[in-house]
Amino acid sequence: MSKYAPELISTAKAMMAEGKGILAMDESNGTCNKRFEQQDIATTVKNRRTYRELILTCPNLSDYISGAILYDETIRQSTKSGVSFVKVMQKAGMIPGIKLDTGAKNLAGHKDEKITEGLDGLRDRIAEYYQMGARFAKWRAVITIGEATPSDACIEANAYGLARYAALCQEGGLVPIVEPEVLIDGKHTIERCYEVTEKTLHEVFRHLYVQNVAYDQMILKPSMVISGTGCSTQASVEQVATETIRCLLNTVPPAVPGIAFLSGGQSQERSSAHLNYMNAKFKSQCPWRVTFSYARAIQQPALEHWGGNSANVAKAQKLLLQRAKLNSAASKGTYTQKMEKKPVLV
Ligand code: G3H
Repeated sequence: MSKYAPELISTAKAMMAEGKGILAMDESNGTCNKRFEQQDIATTVKNRRTYRELILTCPNLSDYISGAILYDETIRQSTKSGVSFVKVMQKAGMIPGIKLDTGAKNLAGHKDEKITEGLDGLRDRIAEYYQMGARFAKWRAVITIGEATPSDACIEANAYGLARYAALCQEGGLVPIVEPEVLIDGKHTIERCYEVTEKTLHEVFRHLYVQNVAYDQMILKPSMVISGTGCSTQASVEQVATETIRCLLNTVPPAVPGIAFLSGGQSQERSSAHLNYMNAKFKSQCPWRVTFSYARAIQQPALEHWGGNSANVAKAQKLLLQRAKLNSAASKGTYTQKMEKKPVLV
């Protein structure tokens, strides 16, 4: 039987506070550099630190963001004036989280499929991050839909990894965010996405149970049930929201306190519209809170505006706050298309 752990329960509850979501800013150096290159920003430690300072010192961000997921480099960094990012977050009322997986690598024996690594030495890494102030963590597993994928082996191996990670987190005092991402890339239909997502989630919760993970002390971070980007028929907002909630109701135990979606390459507006529809239409049927844990769908306008130039920080922060606010509204079912039109003033 899983353990009663009041600290984990209250952390999970705080992460899922009404009107708030979780900001994902845990891009590895490689991914962060890739995003910088797209904007012609020099890929240096200094720029990564400066950009993360822009985000974490954004005025009023904690009105809409309960916690932020950091990367190893970031959790060890400080503001230009020498205040550690963890302290900045604690002072602002945002819970520090940490990415614990070490990335998705090729799955041996299974072409075009990935397995997430990072279990070796994880107990010690968790102890260190807890000491540094982290109170929750993230592990992302990747499932690819193709003609011959996903294989049972891929789903099973990733579900096992997520469960081992989650059990270690709970033992070490961190609330695990369990993230099985079914990739949006591909020509698949929304029906195929439903099938794969449902199977994956069943397998994930079976392994979580086997590893004695307490469902009331974790957060699920799934992808939405959506048409592949290359599919000729794109599902409507209503269809995506309806199928996603149907899939979650069929797979996620009610004891789980919250579901926080990744955006997975959807546009900013679509990410907000889908989340909004789920809350506007299905809130009363959902036993868990349904909110966001977006990276690109929150950060993108701020990153583009900043462009590595310190003169642009104030407006970039306003743009960041604006997307956090819109997604907060979506998490309450009060987002409207009209809100997108409001200009962001410095
Ligand atoms: O692991 C993925 C991130 O936490 C979410 O990123 O919203 O850009 O898909 P995304």
